[in-house]
Amino acid sequence: MDMLVVRGGTPLEGRVVVGGAKNSALPIMAAALAADGPSVLYDVPDLVDVSTLSQLLETLGVNVRRQQGGGLRLEVVDDERFVADYELVRRMRAGVCVLGPMLARRGKACVSLPGGCNIGDRPIDLHLKGLRALGADIRIERGYVIAEADQLRGADIYLGGPFGSTVTGTANVMSAAVLADGVTTIEAAACEPEVVDLGNFLNKMGARITGLGTPFLQIEGVERLTGAEHTVIPDRIEAATLMIAAAAAGGRVEVENVCPTHMTAVIEKLREVGVNCEVSAAISPKHSTIEISVPSSLRPADVIALPYPGIPTDVQAQLTALLCGAEGISVVTDKVFPDRFMHAAELVRMGARIRREGYSAIVSGVSQRSGACVMASDLRASAALVISALAAQGESVIRRIYHLDRGYDRLEAKLNSLGANIRRVKDEPANMPASLAPAIIDGTRPNAVSAPHWLAKTPARQTRTI
Ligand code: EPZ
Repeated sequence: MDMLVVRGGTPLEGRVVVGGAKNSALPIMAAALAADGPSVLYDVPDLVDVSTLSQLLETLGVNVRRQQGGGLRLEVVDDERFVADYELVRRMRAGVCVLGPMLARRGKACVSLPGGCNIGDRPIDLHLKGLRALGADIRIERGYVIAEADQLRGADIYLGGPFGSTVTGTANVMSAAVLADGVTTIEAAACEPEVVDLGNFLNKMGARITGLGTPFLQIEGVERLTGAEHTVIPDRIEAATLMIAAAAAGGRVEVENVCPTHMTAVIEKLREVGVNCEVSAAISPKHSTIEISVPSSLRPADVIALPYPGIPTDVQAQLTALLCGAEGISVVTDKVFPDRFMHAAELVRMGARIRREGYSAIVSGVSQRSGACVMASDLRASAALVISALAAQGESVIRRIYHLDRGYDRLEAKLNSLGANIRRVKDEPANMPASLAPAIIDGTRPNAVSAPHWLAKTPARQTRTI
């Protein structure tokens, strides 16, 4: 296992390019299950989740290959397979996205229930409700969803849940309804740009979906879908992460390949806290550059994560990390995943002052944070810890960064290209920075019982000096 060693306190400077969106690429790859003929996808990021889904699709009879020039080619070569195995689906939520397209195209799908995650409850009742409405017979057996339907039929479906709509649920139901007999309407559909991107891809395959980007979708079923070529939209969450990292560390950074209209709420919030965000249409109106700079100290702000077009829950942890350094008290609430605050305790280890109050985190800004050894609990929490470590004085160690690799394409390399000092090393005692040893902090040698195991192996010469 790897860990990151981050030396903070250095402002970031330069240009960095955002990659394709993970949460677009994954359901789009899954939708290729429904096609007759090959599809080629561009700007699919190089991530662990993408390779896990590729493996899953291979087990379902899809040939997945990276082409020269970077396109990802997907072609169904065997449509007699139905089982999406627990071992692969449990590793990432998006594995459940194979359910809708496989059911619609093959008449049967047997998909492991996706595993839980450290961001709170993640049921799939709305996915199943939508597919049942389309006429599927669905039962749960031994941890698998078994869905069958000779022919799906168009229906009127309401997908609202207690926390708004569902992103992957809308993806699943939409990807099934495109091959249903008749017209389907989906009310309270998710409006996230990633759902729109999937819908655009399905339309290129021959589907007839209207209303994308609104809560009301109308889908006229077609008999078959062909393969299609498609370029995945820029990753608004990666863009936001890089922008917030630049704001937290200070300096001046240009974030390239951003779709600013996907990021209005984040840009507004950053401006509210005192970050300069200058948007320029460098490539095209859809693919702009945003220049980030911080003229003075940061102001506090209240953040409420909401479904799109609100501030994304996937940026809540990073904004929390930023607000830890603001001058005053901020209140952060997540209305999509109300318990998504595992990062708070780890941020506190770096000197942040955060208190949970019901479904909110009360963040009292501090003028200085210090590096610490912290543990990543999920993908965006990992990014928040990196951001906090960049803003802190001294060295931090971030462990369990496999979460980070699931969803960011070389985040530390991109930040290092801006002048950050981040090393990826094996999570071994020998690689633990001596500066984080307790003896350095209080000037005394720790006793054998309380010393962390790695300290025992740290050379005495390093632990003695202050
Ligand atoms: C997607 O997850 C994203 N994942 C998540 O990104 C993102 O946080 C989330 O949408 C919200 O934007 C992918 O796209 C692969 P939801 P998803 O269904 O679809 C409740 C990341 O870090 N709900 O929109 O699983 C649910 O509990 C990840 O990249 C039901 O009640 O999220 C939550 O409170 C993490 N019943 C809310 O809806 C259901 O059947 C939104 O969840 C489904 C969801």
